[in-house]
Amino acid sequence: MSRQDEAAIDTGHGGGGPGSAEAPLLAVRNIEVVYDEVILVLRGLSLQVPRGAVVALLGANGAGKSTTLKAISGLLKTENGSVTRGEIVFDGARIDGTDPERIVRRGISQVMEGRKIIADMTPLENLRLGAYIRRDGEVQDDLERVLTYFPRLKERTGLAGYLSGGEQQMLAIGRALMARPELILMDEPSMGLSPLLVQEVFGIVRQINRDLGVTILLVEQNARAALSVASFGYIMEQGKVVLDGTADALRDNEDVKEFYLGGSGDQRKSFKNLKSFRRRKRWL
Ligand SMILES: Nc1ncnc2c1ncn2[C@@H]1O[C@H](COP(=O)(O)OP(=O)(O)OP(=O)(O)O)[C@@H](O)[C@H]1O
Ligand SMILES: [Mg+2]
Repeated sequence: MSRQDEAAIDTGHGGGGPGSAEAPLLAVRNIEVVYDEVILVLRGLSLQVPRGAVVALLGANGAGKSTTLKAISGLLKTENGSVTRGEIVFDGARIDGTDPERIVRRGISQVMEGRKIIADMTPLENLRLGAYIRRDGEVQDDLERVLTYFPRLKERTGLAGYLSGGEQQMLAIGRALMARPELILMDEPSMGLSPLLVQEVFGIVRQINRDLGVTILLVEQNARAALSVASFGYIMEQGKVVLDGTADALRDNEDVKEFYLGGSGDQRKSFKNLKSFRRRKRWL
């Protein structure tokens, strides 16, 4: 990373957020994503995730959050989407355009929106599937370790399709862990869960990050829950980042409070129409 880049990404918040001097584990730089060769969905999106951090990516329906994660994990290809501009750098190497399986081998696992577990396999079979790329002899040990985070899954010997929503979410996270990733991309883990279960799932996210040192990029519509575990957050609208800051700064931001933390909740309002909205030129 050049000196100029380092200066450009200094958000001035300090505290080890994406403004810190060490090269980030993941850097998404000014990407454009197009589906079916014509539908432009991401329009110059940039973000970064420092090693060891939990970073939140927030935004309303259709903002492009899942598209961002799929661009990183390579899964865009399976939906006839592609990165047409910009670059994605993971651990010092370009990964945009790389096949999803190679990206998993490099150390990125995605927990898909809607969980996508395999309903007609048992939870244990689902977990083992998460280790399919591994050729080492420690899969069984890891299985035991993962189950210590999700003790309830041990008791569920039937098919995964019969698990509750919260259990399925935990299984999906457990399966991602089985690949021994450095970075987990999580797509709306709170979706469809009761407030109590949301707390439980986010408690596990925090534990995984602290105990195992796994870096996490967390996509959420539930800004309150996400900012309770993340140290830094980005808010996106219509395919680009419109605001970013430390979790504390975002929680205290009046606009964020109004739009995302239980204010009017009117999604039609836009940061773009606010006086306080300041377009960031640093990536242009
Ligand atoms: N496979 C696809 N082909 C064409 N357009 C798509 C495809 N997937 C997503 N889109 C479009 O891209 C835009 C962003 O979608 P995306 O799923 O990334 O949003 P999101 O922020 O994850 O929304 P949500 O909160 O509803 O999950 C939407 O307008 C959507 O219609
Ligand atoms: Mg989505």
